[in-house]
Amino acid sequence: MTKTMPRAAALILLVGLLVSDAGFAAAERAILEGERFSPVSADNGMVATSHHLASRVARDVLADGGNAVDAAVTAGFALAVTQPRSGNIGGGGFMLISDEASGEVISIDYRETAPAAATETMFQDEDGEVVPERSRFSADASGVPGTVAGFALALERYGSIPLAEALAPAIELAEEGFAVPARFEQGLRDAADRLKRWPATREKFFKADGSPYTEGEIFRQPALAATLRRIAERGPREFYQGRTAELIVETIQRHGGRMTAEDLAAYEPVVREPVHGTYRGYDVYSMGPPSSGGTHIVQILNILEGWDMAGSGHNSARSIHRMAEAMKRAYADRAEYLGDTDFVEVPLGGLTSKAYADELRATIDADRATLAEAINAGDPWPYESNETTHFSIVDSDGLAVSNTYTINFSYGSGLVVDGGGFLLNNEMDDFSAKPGVPNAYGLIGGEANKIEPGKRMLSSMSPTIVKKDGRNFLVTGSPGGSRIITTTLQVISNVVDHEMNVQSAGAAPRVHHQWLPDHIRVEQGISPDTVRLLEEMGHEVRVDRAMGAIQSVLIDEEGRFHGAADPRRSTSSAMGW
Ligand code: DON
Repeated sequence: MTKTMPRAAALILLVGLLVSDAGFAAAERAILEGERFSPVSADNGMVATSHHLASRVARDVLADGGNAVDAAVTAGFALAVTQPRSGNIGGGGFMLISDEASGEVISIDYRETAPAAATETMFQDEDGEVVPERSRFSADASGVPGTVAGFALALERYGSIPLAEALAPAIELAEEGFAVPARFEQGLRDAADRLKRWPATREKFFKADGSPYTEGEIFRQPALAATLRRIAERGPREFYQGRTAELIVETIQRHGGRMTAEDLAAYEPVVREPVHGTYRGYDVYSMGPPSSGGTHIVQILNILEGWDMAGSGHNSARSIHRMAEAMKRAYADRAEYLGDTDFVEVPLGGLTSKAYADELRATIDADRATLAEAINAGDPWPYESNETTHFSIVDSDGLAVSNTYTINFSYGSGLVVDGGGFLLNNEMDDFSAKPGVPNAYGLIGGEANKIEPGKRMLSSMSPTIVKKDGRNFLVTGSPGGSRIITTTLQVISNVVDHEMNVQSAGAAPRVHHQWLPDHIRVEQGISPDTVRLLEEMGHEVRVDRAMGAIQSVLIDEEGRFHGAADPRRSTSSAMGW
């Protein structure tokens, strides 16, 4: 911890500097005075997203009297323009909304669905072997997108501004363009080979000579602006039954995919009850199926609750051992039981019960790692991609929004809708293409997550809201594929168990275990002594790249808002006022 603090402190200062002079002064003061809470603090509301332009337009919505849902939908559309590798209208996600006034916490499931012509074996060859190329980079890789319908539903039920108003900043950013940040240029360079395969994608993201837009150049997206304008003028059904739907189907079918106009017309987002659990007196609400996220966050927290995590210390070998053992058991259950509850029965009550957690805890040896092969589901990842994006927004009327949405890989399938100007997802890879064969994140699934027409593929996205005594306390969530669950979980534990301020809680080095492969993945910053102790306990420990990009807002007892944008994303920013 001592090694990581100066870096965390420097990042806090940097974020403060980027936000405002006042933020900087507060940052400096917080560090000097050792305050518990983050320096990006404000009295009237807070926005944390992975792109400063999205944070800015969302903050403006709040400042103009809009509520957190208005700001969230505005941020979501702005991210589709400013961060097209993950921000999207061609994908899907989950939004959690907590209304302190009514006590209600709901989730909007706008996850993609499998087309009607999808089959269980569609990503296997004649010999029954899985062909990853098909579920990841073909016109069949896309599920029916849910973002536009999901955002429209959120706004209609819980917002206060019309859809056209929430789309206006995105339309302007697409039309007028914005200066490309270094990360945008790098992303295009990294993905150039797979993006240039598709003519419309090449035309959108690369210049006539085939080179990517470079840092500081203005990137304009006229086709996307036209699409967003059509939606603003004709409403969300335009995307599903209007000109945009025609463009999607034309593109997919031209490239041999099976999605039809009927699939798009039939898409509906669903309002669902979130998963609820408790942790040391806090109420934890997170996403239920078709995400596995909330279920396993609650399950792992239930296991940890039986131990003195504060006493064992942040990121000590004992704490990491306990977390890793709990994570392994949860991910073994995930592989066996989790899927779309509209199609399969999931033992949610059992998985999230304290009693089941007690039983699992009892199987954990205090000093020895249990080999993954010795763990089966209980009773009741190397292809790397790094995008999906989360934002957290809270207003001064007690409304909080936690939203994670994605097109799966960075740039999804890579296929841009010709004339539509947006990328399509490759979410079909989140289904189990064949029982026991891992997906891109090394996650194994079975029967419960097999491909079926109309079904939603299992997700790990975990938009989460933690409440204390009926008040919104911590709004958080992250990208990171299979690591989303463990990233979000550690931020909750860092705040609740280790009493870190929300910025430090998100910046601190993270660890991850997903049962298979059987090793603890750790970020840089876990001390070599700790790694050695873990190895002595029988763990294999691998130091790997940074995990997740958590965007959080914490509301303190005085009702002040503290934003924390993850320093792992150079464009992240928290803004309040
Ligand atoms: O829904 C899921 O769990 C995945 N499609 C999320 C992908 C993701 O987070 C990619 N980035 N880190």
